[in-house]
Amino acid sequence: MNILILGSGGREHSLAWAVKQNPKTDRLIVAPGNAGIAMLAECADIDILDGAVVVTFCEENAIDFVIVGPEAPLAAGVADACRAAGLLTFGPSAAAARLEASKAFTKEICDACNAPTAGYARFTEAGPAKDYIRAQGAPIVVKADGLAAGKGVIVAMTEAEALAAIDDMFGGEFGAAGAEVVIEEFMAGEEASFFILTDGTHALPIGTAQDHKRVGDGDIGPNTGGMGAYSPAPVLTEALQRQAMDQIVLPTIAEMARRGTPYQGVLYAGLMIENGQARLVEYNARFGDPEAQVLMMRLGAQALDLMLATAEGRLGEAQVNWADDHALTVVMATKGYPGAFAKGSQIRGLDELPEDSRHMVFHAGTAAQDGGLIATGGRVLTVTARGTTLREAQTAAYAMVDQIDWPEGFCRRDIGWRAL
Ligand code: AMP
Ligand code: GLY
Repeated sequence: MNILILGSGGREHSLAWAVKQNPKTDRLIVAPGNAGIAMLAECADIDILDGAVVVTFCEENAIDFVIVGPEAPLAAGVADACRAAGLLTFGPSAAAARLEASKAFTKEICDACNAPTAGYARFTEAGPAKDYIRAQGAPIVVKADGLAAGKGVIVAMTEAEALAAIDDMFGGEFGAAGAEVVIEEFMAGEEASFFILTDGTHALPIGTAQDHKRVGDGDIGPNTGGMGAYSPAPVLTEALQRQAMDQIVLPTIAEMARRGTPYQGVLYAGLMIENGQARLVEYNARFGDPEAQVLMMRLGAQALDLMLATAEGRLGEAQVNWADDHALTVVMATKGYPGAFAKGSQIRGLDELPEDSRHMVFHAGTAAQDGGLIATGGRVLTVTARGTTLREAQTAAYAMVDQIDWPEGFCRRDIGWRAL
């Protein structure tokens, strides 16, 4: 098959790595890709937010299967355009991707199917939103309704912080994403991510993971896109996965189908676990980044078969073959991230690292320059290893990190601490 993956991050590098290992793959193109992806696939610099452009590219290159990585093309309807053109496509329609693109919509779905989640109220004006915050008190969570690149959620520990967040959101800090605001009850507990493939009818859990959102060791400092992850997440026990499937995931899938907007693709359920109960924090309509890196390392080539079964509506007969192992990934970012950072610093030492089914450096923000490699983003590398225990995976990942010569980069040194 000829396969096109849309996206340019560490997630897409890991998807490409897994897909490439499957003998069904003849030609693999990633658009736009990055310097790491270019080592294993062709890269094509096209506008992946434009459905017509993607469809034309697929026709010109005889693409048989399209995998959409990030949320922006999903929200822009690129999966719809591909399917309308008769292309086999992995990823939800824009209508179904509202589970990520609108927090108010997700709350509506939870209400309709009685899924456990934080109590909430929605506002389109600052005055009533502030009255509500004063009545509820802190801690409280303020969310811009729309996509805000992971920055639209303020977990306010004080009332003043929450009120300031209202001013920011209605003041336009998040553009159109902040035109509506969802205010939620603060949920205490431990967070974990649960990944489920669904073809709109059937659902197949494909793994659990835990991310590390804060920039600093010990979970301090500002929020990031994720500084590291591991899979499986022991906090998500079999019993909790069952509960999450029965009370949250399956009812959501049924409700989306009932509304005539069936969800097809990967559903990423962010869960909060407290007192032996899982509640929904949020949905994402895609694989997590860097959670995909640990999932792909554990799934390997079968990831393609599972995504094909999803797109073809055959998940009822699919199953996952798990190795009883662990994977851990450490994100290396440019110093300054998630604030301002300089681009263009040299990264050395990657050539000497092992690259096999247990060790991979997935690139997130790199470019080739003068025969070398430079950093072009905040999150730049995701250094990933697999082991028979989580400790072994952690030791292997940090051993790789320590061989990378990049003075302008940094990473957290404690990825995996909760489970260890
Ligand atoms: P994201 O939407 O991925 O930026 O996630 C925002 C983060 O805010 C989540 O991963 C949680 O850590 C936190 N969060 C969101 N909603 C709540 C809530 N109701 N209670 C506590 N923490 C929350
Ligand atoms: N790592 C969090 C996310 O992908 O949303």
